[in-house]
Amino acid sequence: MRVFYAALTVFLFFSRFRAEVNDRYYPRYHLAPPRGWMNDPNGFCQFKNEYHLFYQHNPDSSLAPGSIHWGHAKSNDLFHWEHLPIAMDPDQDYDRSGVFSGSAIVENETMYLFYTGHVNHPGQSPDHEEHQCLATSTDGITVTKYPNNPVLIGAEHQPDIRDPKVWKHLDTYYMVLGNSFNNTTLGRVLLYTSKDKITWNEVSIIDESDGYLGYMWECPDFFELDGHFILLFSPQGVKPEGDKYRNLYQTGYIVGDFDYSTNTFKPMAKFQELDHGHDFYATQTVIDDLGRRIVIAWFDMWDQNYPEQLDGFNGQMTIPRVLSLSKEGRIIQKPVREIKAIRGETIHIGKSAGGTTIPLDDNAAEISIIARSSNGLDLYIESQNSSKSRVHIKYDSQNGTISLDRGGNDGLRRTVWQPQRNLKIKIYIDASSIEMFCGKGEVTISSRFFPNGPVQVRLGEKSAVKQIRVTKLNRTVFVNKK
Ligand SMILES: *[C@@H]1O[C@H](CO)[C@@H](O)[C@H](O)[C@H]1NC(C)=O
Ligand SMILES: *[C@@H]1O[C@H](CO)[C@@H](O)[C@H](O)[C@H]1NC(C)=O
Ligand SMILES: *[C@@H]1O[C@H](CO)[C@@H](O)[C@H](O)[C@H]1NC(C)=O
Ligand SMILES: *[C@@H]1O[C@H](CO)[C@@H](O)[C@H](O)[C@H]1NC(C)=O
Ligand SMILES: *[C@@H]1O[C@H](CO)[C@@H](O)[C@H](O)[C@H]1NC(C)=O
Ligand SMILES: *[C@@H]1O[C@H](CO)[C@@H](O)[C@H](O)[C@H]1NC(C)=O
Repeated sequence: MRVFYAALTVFLFFSRFRAEVNDRYYPRYHLAPPRGWMNDPNGFCQFKNEYHLFYQHNPDSSLAPGSIHWGHAKSNDLFHWEHLPIAMDPDQDYDRSGVFSGSAIVENETMYLFYTGHVNHPGQSPDHEEHQCLATSTDGITVTKYPNNPVLIGAEHQPDIRDPKVWKHLDTYYMVLGNSFNNTTLGRVLLYTSKDKITWNEVSIIDESDGYLGYMWECPDFFELDGHFILLFSPQGVKPEGDKYRNLYQTGYIVGDFDYSTNTFKPMAKFQELDHGHDFYATQTVIDDLGRRIVIAWFDMWDQNYPEQLDGFNGQMTIPRVLSLSKEGRIIQKPVREIKAIRGETIHIGKSAGGTTIPLDDNAAEISIIARSSNGLDLYIESQNSSKSRVHIKYDSQNGTISLDRGGNDGLRRTVWQPQRNLKIKIYIDASSIEMFCGKGEVTISSRFFPNGPVQVRLGEKSAVKQIRVTKLNRTVFVNKK
């Protein structure tokens, strides 16, 4: 028995390092793990003038999260990412089944990382528990877990209480946590405060599900945006309703007002999805030195089993997007302006007739379209040699909807969009992904797709446009560099 396991361990050790990541679906300018598995973004912060992003990571397999670690990368411009050593392993009693999601604040030249220590108890009821923990880094590479972890037990809220997001207001630290209550049938967000980042007191419930919004709220984030407060979170267990909530789990927000003197949140509007594509989950935001509220999401979804898993990696992050709030109470998202610096040559520009076909270089491009909205639009992003792998983007001018259909089972995602006289759409294509920003960014659709070989963009036969510009985007992420 022992010999068998020793042999298996040796085999796994070598297979881990032997495994070459196949490049065909590996992103050119979105952050992905150097190998293995990636899910939620964690600890998004700016430290000594660089952006740092941690993420849920299994270095040993691209097939499953396993006992999750914190992977780590940094960047000057949110596009050129450098992989750093794994920041945290599940190596303590209190986090032995997983170093789960969390966030960072930077103070006194120190990164304070808050995360959830996940511990499984197979065969028991409940079969897991979760406690909040602290770790620090002063060099931005080496992370040290706080010796007296966990800092927050939350015994009365077990077993699902996780994903701490921490911020400071005046002289107080605030933490929101996702929780499941009523015997794990309803989701909510709890608020805690602390004067020292160590001792935390529960002060209020920010908001909770009445059943309609599911049984668990993951990855809560809470911040001020253009005069109001946003509760951004990822509810699980929301039922599909027409074109809404079609993914296994959702990510969206509630706009409202918050009173720091009573710690109460007053919602002004209903829950709205932040993105309408297949692959957008577990968002995290940071406010940077320039005062921008930047969001990043896991550009994937649970239970998808995409073909990249067999290529030695799974998962990537979306383009970082700057948030603002419209007068109508809708979040507007725009790619961070640093994206301009990765533009390569423009492959095609001008007024174009229906049927125009533009082959891409390296399956990575920015496509900008301006068209008369009354005409509608059909656009195909497809393999050059096979009509089987095709994504159909459609603006339906009669119904006022924008859709993306990637084919296959559950291929369609669609939402209402009311553009001005002109349709203005920006689409980012990257090896195995499509991120679409409509109008000023009031609607986004983010979905993965897995083409056979080189890709082209084609206007539908009836879709003449005022302008289509296709610009190459340069490679900024690499598989096994560092
Ligand atoms: C700031 O950091 C230094 C060095 O890491 C530490 O000695 C000091 O106690 C810290 N000060 C505060 C207020 O946390
Ligand atoms: C709480 O759960 C019970 C079942 O355990 C259910 O009957 C009840 O409706 C739930 N409460 C709410 C507010 O949904
Ligand atoms: C909680 O739910 C489980 C099954 O979902 C049930 O067995 C248990 O009796 C419930 N507990 C309470 C206190 O309702
Ligand atoms: C993009 O790549 C091309 C060649 O591949 C290079 O000439 C150009 O300088 C690059 N642009 C940027 C902004 O890095
Ligand atoms: C508008 O939507 C309806 C219902 O989904 C559909 O039957 C109809 O074909 C759509 N109109 C157009 C022009 O596609
Ligand atoms: C064309 O597509 C097939 C799969 O449909 C693929 O095996 C082949 O490599 C592709 N050829 C080129 C030139 O990309």
